[in-house]
Amino acid sequence: MTEAGANLSPCFRTAVVPAAGMGTRFLPATKTVPKELLPVVDTPGIELVAGEAADSGAERLVIVTSPGKDGVVAHFVEDLVLESKLEAKGKFKLLEKVRKAPGLLEVDSVVQEEPLGLGHAVLQAERVLDDDETAIAVLLPDDLVLPRGVLDVMSRVRRKRGGSVLCAIDVPKDQVSAYGVFEVEEVPDAVNPNVLKVLSMVEKPAVEDAPSTFAAAGRYLLDRAIFDAIRRIEPGSGGELQLTDAIALLISEGHPVHVVVHRGSRHDLGNPGGYLRAAVDFALDSDEYGPSLREWLTERLGDSWAPQLTTYE
Ligand code: G1P
Repeated sequence: MTEAGANLSPCFRTAVVPAAGMGTRFLPATKTVPKELLPVVDTPGIELVAGEAADSGAERLVIVTSPGKDGVVAHFVEDLVLESKLEAKGKFKLLEKVRKAPGLLEVDSVVQEEPLGLGHAVLQAERVLDDDETAIAVLLPDDLVLPRGVLDVMSRVRRKRGGSVLCAIDVPKDQVSAYGVFEVEEVPDAVNPNVLKVLSMVEKPAVEDAPSTFAAAGRYLLDRAIFDAIRRIEPGSGGELQLTDAIALLISEGHPVHVVVHRGSRHDLGNPGGYLRAAVDFALDSDEYGPSLREWLTERLGDSWAPQLTTYE
């Protein structure tokens, strides 16, 4: 159980995972394999994110895909043939792993026909929501936020302060241009200094224009008003409909927005460098792979590492 108390009901039933991107930073691997299915040790990144959503009380995952990316959704469908083969061979540990994703939560998908931006991707989920859903969680599968549990804290903040709640990380100043960045102030009656009120938000600002070093870290708890706001914004950074701009519009109209500052770690699975760190981090923590990886890394990083080619004359 997290600090927030996972036994409290969450403020959302549906978690939206935008997975329509082309994964160009991962070419050539992503020529045929969606980047969301690249394994962090043995588990696709999107399964880790789906597990986080389920742990925080989500009942349904809505995956936003693009044409041709059906494999991402297929990962969450039972494969009875594979399961019975594993069962017949007595491979129960693998069977448990294979059954995990389909058993996590109900999965739906919607297609984003054109790559018009994160805001546009989130907007596609509106059509599958039930009328009584007043908020959604959005989890970007590029972001692994560890330890898990920030969505629980965000639910608590929405319950107390209303509106929408986002997760922020404090990034080095020279990296702000890769993120949505918050202008924040302390909450007057704050009991927790890591909950801040958001005054404005700007997508990928130049370093000199950034209002702070608090950046959006791929976890959003958004009031349903976000959909109407997305419909009212114009294309922004990169010529795309930005979720950040829709949130900024809501703030300008008086909608309360807060951030929970995450002080743990976060991996960016969206580029090979961040992905490798995540894989090493997870592997070092694994009982199965950790000990031998640690041993090999120590040797690999040691001064006596000098692989030689065998010659023959
Ligand atoms: C997206 C969001 C940005 C956020 C980032 C977190 O950007 O637009 O506001 O800070 O994710 O990873 P992207 O990395 O998709 O360009």
